[in-house]
Amino acid sequence: MSEPVSPTKFDLPSDTGGKDLGIFMPIANGGWILSRNKPELDGSYAYNRKVAVLAEELGYDFIMSMAKYRGYGGETKQWDATLDATVTMAALAEVTKTVKVWTTVHTILQNPGTVAKMIATLDQVSNGRAGLNVVTGSYKGEFSQMGMWPDDVDHDARYDLADEWIKAIKGLWTEPSVTMDGKYFQLDDCVSNPKPSKKPFLVCAGTSEKGMRFSANEMDAIFLSGDVPEVLAAASNKVKGIAAEMGRYIRTYAMMTVVLGDTDEEAQATAQHYRDGLDEEALRGMMRAYGFLDAEIGKENAFVKKARSSFMSPHVAGSPDTVVERLSQQLEVSGLDGLMLIFPDYIEGMPKFAEEVLPKLRAKFPSLAGAA
Ligand SMILES: Cc1cc2nc3c(=O)[nH]c(=O)nc-3n(C[C@H](O)[C@H](O)[C@H](O)COP(=O)(O)O)c2cc1C
Repeated sequence: MSEPVSPTKFDLPSDTGGKDLGIFMPIANGGWILSRNKPELDGSYAYNRKVAVLAEELGYDFIMSMAKYRGYGGETKQWDATLDATVTMAALAEVTKTVKVWTTVHTILQNPGTVAKMIATLDQVSNGRAGLNVVTGSYKGEFSQMGMWPDDVDHDARYDLADEWIKAIKGLWTEPSVTMDGKYFQLDDCVSNPKPSKKPFLVCAGTSEKGMRFSANEMDAIFLSGDVPEVLAAASNKVKGIAAEMGRYIRTYAMMTVVLGDTDEEAQATAQHYRDGLDEEALRGMMRAYGFLDAEIGKENAFVKKARSSFMSPHVAGSPDTVVERLSQQLEVSGLDGLMLIFPDYIEGMPKFAEEVLPKLRAKFPSLAGAA
């Protein structure tokens, strides 16, 4: 195989061998816990503004918003109210100075000509901190409700569409004009100015084979799913290998919900309290959105069982020392380049994590000048 490829520099710890630790912004009500017993997160801009300002003050590396158009209902009305990702991130770019601001856009919803300009604008507002999470859209109901679900474009074809989409955007960011006669997009001497001041950071969470290949080929980073370090290691090595074959470098990340307590017992009791309050109807709503039928949900397959924990992402619950140990092990074994963190209550959890966990993680995984 050819020489290892160095990462493009984005002023992130991972540029030089460190780990990027960011925040998944709670722009949807309820956060990532399907429970009646969780702290109330309203998903409002006011709350997100506080989270963003705090994220910067406390030294987190990035903040990212998802794009979501239909929630899961239930007693807690989980994710029934969600802010627009890009408008939110542009506003948050104005109230911050250093933290990276990454938005999310669905390739099936927005024309590349529109998105090239949106992100170039975010680049100006943020003074070069802009990033874009490219999502193809997976859940029909989110898009068919607005007549935007292409029935004749299946899962893998949606990545072919995304491939044309991102190539068009990259062209619009760098070329005087773009003409493209694609299967999905046609651009005719299409212009887009201003250009971004630097290359916006591109990330995708395509965990399927097709999604991984797309990411390895076109993205700067990928979110992998799973919480078993060995499984993450296999996925991370695989996508990095595919990228290397293409002469590219890709960062790998995962999400993690952190339940911090003063002691392990306290944190575990909190996690159990969330589990005890599982919002069954919201869980069913989420499963239906994922395409499970009611009959299958009743069968309690492994996926449903896992969701019954009430946590919508992998989680760790423990004292600060336990969390340091678990996350260090996760990062060491998996070889991931970073984590996107979720807190049950961000305003309470972020400072505690920054004070009692972050310095130890930074010390274990220093960002070394010159490291690949
Ligand atoms: C961290 C993370 C963030 C994601 N953000 C979004 C999002 O904002 N909107 C969305 O529709 N899908 C989102 N997804 C779903 C992915 O885009 C993707 O469709 C999913 O991981 C399945 O992979 P596949 O498309 O390769 O099958 C996200 C997934 C992860 C792991």
